[in-house]
Amino acid sequence: MVWNLPGVPWLIAHKSMLQVNKPKMFTICGKDYVLWKNERGEVSALENICPHMGAKLSDGWICPNTNTIACPFHALEFDNEGRAILPNDKISKPLAKPLELFFQGDFIWTYANETPKLPIPDVLEKLSSQYRYIGSTKEVTIKAPFLDVLEINHDLNHAKGTHREVFRINSTKVDDFQDNGYYSISKIRHFRAENTLKEYLKNPSLLFTPKVLGLVLENYFPSLVVVYTDTPVGKAIQVFIIYPETETTTRTFIPIFAEKSFGILNPLLEKSTIKSTEEIIHQDGGMLETLYPRFEPKIRLENEEPVHWVRKHYYSWNDLTPLPCKGRGENSELLII
Ligand code: FES
Ligand SMILES: [Fe+2]
Repeated sequence: MVWNLPGVPWLIAHKSMLQVNKPKMFTICGKDYVLWKNERGEVSALENICPHMGAKLSDGWICPNTNTIACPFHALEFDNEGRAILPNDKISKPLAKPLELFFQGDFIWTYANETPKLPIPDVLEKLSSQYRYIGSTKEVTIKAPFLDVLEINHDLNHAKGTHREVFRINSTKVDDFQDNGYYSISKIRHFRAENTLKEYLKNPSLLFTPKVLGLVLENYFPSLVVVYTDTPVGKAIQVFIIYPETETTTRTFIPIFAEKSFGILNPLLEKSTIKSTEEIIHQDGGMLETLYPRFEPKIRLENEEPVHWVRKHYYSWNDLTPLPCKGRGENSELLII
């Protein structure tokens, strides 16, 4: 078992999360990278360490005319293949390693430069064509290992504890769990108590959160859980994204889609939906960051099949053979199921 699961496709951002010509550092599988988007919406990524003397390229700046990144230390510029721009229009050989990216509409994926073992799921393409993307929560680093966050995302019993505040969930009934290899699906119902007036005022989207909350959860091991919720104002879809940042920290964010549009009410409803989804991350993170170190549980609860499902795949990851494809990049479409 390797903590960063080499060969997993990781979703790292939606293009709207990047500002034009503004370098952004992010860490995945223990390595720092710099990501930037130009005016044409093209996204580039390099290892963040400057090959000259090790400055953080993400502290530098983008030169819009050449789509190069300038190092903050000695202002050497690098193109998106990691080649240094030299005097007299000369270009060096690649020195800074690019991070290979795969695009699905505006969603950005990477294998963290490892050989692919699982295809990139096409669910986000389907969601983008059927529903309205309303935005994403802020990205958050949870100070917990990837496996802990992976497990809570598949833990059907934690809502009445971890999410009792605000969402007032009293009990959860699991109607179905289907295991289809690296994809699984759960159908559940949360039974909620009445919210207080103060909670409604703070989170108006609770007005559209039914007392019996029917959810379908599509699990794409290990990076995505797509949660479909039926509300009186149409379906809402939250995509729980996680990736390992370091051995002890995990990055998460949740893109959100809605079935219907409400015209001038959209900004208010969208803001409130994003805010209440950020509360879910806050509650999960708060719980995970206070856990004692991992040990073998001394008791089992009902409905833990999805947790065992992720554990099984996590611990047997090394046994999975790489995908039969010629190479990353030139065949990226072959990796999409
Ligand atoms: S350290 Fe980057 S140019 Fe010198
Ligand atoms: Fe949760």
